[in-house]
Amino acid sequence: MSELLRVSGVVAGYGSGPAILNGSDLTVEPGKIHCIIGPNGAGKSTLLKAIVGILKPREGEVVFEGERLNGMRPDQVLRRGIAFVPQERALFPKMSVRENLRMGGFVLDDRVELQRRIDEVLERFPVLKERADQLAGTMSGGQQQTLSMARAMLLRPKIVMLDEPSLGLAPKIVQDMFDIMKMLRDEGATILLVEQNAMMGLKNSDWGVVLDLGRTLFEGPAKEILSDPRIQELYLGGRSSAAA
Ligand SMILES: Nc1ncnc2c1ncn2[C@@H]1O[C@H](COP(=O)(O)OP(=O)(O)OP(=O)(O)O)[C@@H](O)[C@H]1O
Ligand SMILES: [Mg+2]
Repeated sequence: MSELLRVSGVVAGYGSGPAILNGSDLTVEPGKIHCIIGPNGAGKSTLLKAIVGILKPREGEVVFEGERLNGMRPDQVLRRGIAFVPQERALFPKMSVRENLRMGGFVLDDRVELQRRIDEVLERFPVLKERADQLAGTMSGGQQQTLSMARAMLLRPKIVMLDEPSLGLAPKIVQDMFDIMKMLRDEGATILLVEQNAMMGLKNSDWGVVLDLGRTLFEGPAKEILSDPRIQELYLGGRSSAAA
């Protein structure tokens, strides 16, 4: 099994507060969609923050391509190829689509290359090209999420991490977002996402991670998790809805 990122036994919390993560593990393999599920407050967002350097692990290890990331700053982690789209999406609402893309490329020193990549991204996502000069804050939720993903892809990251990309979107649009992720995956991208709707997330992913009380309870192929009676009972709303 080739792995790109491995989190093992990570303990982390906010400031001097209690540990929120109490031994979280996670494996990310190239070219797959990985989905972290778990109840509210389980520590899903905290786990992503501990990977990208917003929080420093107190114990355990985050290893990316054989290199320890523990203690690196978010910009250092980004430069190594891990892009992060936070739960709140972090777009600049008063800037246009094109300006938001430009801001996303701030770590690229080569302006000409940045412009080339922006044009390329706009070609890939026609919905954004049509709205290149529109202010991001005036777009629909789905369009804003598409922009967040496109902006992350601009840096050609080795892993894209998305915290609740479906948040606040209508069900049909949620499927569109998963279809974009699958398109990116089929082109070779590696994706790690957190999804509140566990069923939906796992059905659209290759690999699943069940997190509760800051601990990884299980990780494995998404299909296995979907068919595990205990996980169905505890995290997928019981057998009947799991079969739906
Ligand atoms: N900035 C913060 N400062 C202190 N505690 C925090 C902070 N952010 C989150 N927490 C606490 O960490 C715990 C886990 O939160 P986290 O946001 O990681 O959960 P989550 O699994 O992402 O939940 P949700 O599904 O609601 O997004 C919660 O008890 C929360 O109150
Ligand atoms: Mg969260």
